[in-house]
Amino acid sequence: MNFIRFSDLCASGKAKGQRVFIRADLNVPLDDSANITEDTRIRASIPCLQMALDAGAAVMVTSHLGRPAEGEFKPADSLAPVARRLGELMKRDIPLIANWVDGVDIKPGQLVLLENCRLNKGEKKNSEALSRKMAALCDIFVHDAFGTAHRAEASTYGIAQYAPIACAGPLLAAEMDAISKALAKPRRPLVAIVAGSKVSTKLTILKALAANVDQLIVGGGIANTFMLAAGLKIGKSLAEADLLAEAQGVMAAMKARGAEVPIPTDVVCAKSFAADAPASVKAATDVDDDDLILDIGPQTTARLAAQLKAAGTIVWNGPVGVFEFDAFSKGTEGIARAIADSSAFSIAGGGDTLAAIAKYGIEKQVDYISTGGGAFLEILEGKTLPAFEILEKRAAG
Ligand code: 3PG
Repeated sequence: MNFIRFSDLCASGKAKGQRVFIRADLNVPLDDSANITEDTRIRASIPCLQMALDAGAAVMVTSHLGRPAEGEFKPADSLAPVARRLGELMKRDIPLIANWVDGVDIKPGQLVLLENCRLNKGEKKNSEALSRKMAALCDIFVHDAFGTAHRAEASTYGIAQYAPIACAGPLLAAEMDAISKALAKPRRPLVAIVAGSKVSTKLTILKALAANVDQLIVGGGIANTFMLAAGLKIGKSLAEADLLAEAQGVMAAMKARGAEVPIPTDVVCAKSFAADAPASVKAATDVDDDDLILDIGPQTTARLAAQLKAAGTIVWNGPVGVFEFDAFSKGTEGIARAIADSSAFSIAGGGDTLAAIAKYGIEKQVDYISTGGGAFLEILEGKTLPAFEILEKRAAG
């Protein structure tokens, strides 16, 4: 993928004295008292800001926070908590600027945070007028918001069309490099883990991966649908009976390529969905009519762990069981530990996956953890995201 990298502009001195507008994804979770509960995205955005400052630029950064109504400022939508946290992490005062679209007074060496960009009228619909105004604020536009790369909004797409220069920031570039390494030029075998409650929400991903990966490990409700499609009984477990043909199609496509969807041979069941429900390990052929499958069993976990350890590349999206409940967490823990122990290049993304990575403390052993939720999923679907489409177009001149 060919796009201009901000790091190259900085290294060649082209950012010195320039007004640099950075679109970051600082959309972090807040509790009811507006405290940030998880700040990974803020930390991940700092290298770009520091790079711009070190290059001698006048630096503006903005982000959306939540999904506010445009044109209606409410304190709960303010980036003020983000400004405070960013200031603590960067050890400098970060002024928060409201009503910034018509002009920002800034000098080289300064860094300001522009208030929630989704408060501007026309942001979501990528208004040309708003995009042109934002583009006029800068000499260089830097897209560094991977989490928002699947959106074509004024601050992510329109501004990239009209800014004098539009380039990719280090986070966006690193995400793309890691994803290309995993999916475009993978060291094989390439193993993907796609888990979650429903096949329907991940059907496009399953189909896209079925054409590329060597093993497609399914988990959660998705695995139940595949077990049903393989002729196994799943009791009253969550599944989508209307998607059996689609699941069979994915298995057939894999088989035709000499690849496979490993179907669980044992499972952990309970009679109710509760943390304290007694858990019983059963062969996949012995599931009773009143059973709920809540995890993969130890034999399946061991088999999948061996495949993961022998993999060249691993793409992980979704826990394979109800890992929030201890009795049904062993499968996900086994998968996580196998990924950690594997010499494969591993990439993981998605909210639940990140929670599992944190729970088992394997952050350092996963080669790349994506900051994208929806954006990561759309990449797995094989889509070209708007961010990359426009940056490539601009790089082509
Ligand atoms: C996310 O949290 O996935 C991104 O920040 C995108 O947010 P959005 O779904 O509101 O566009």
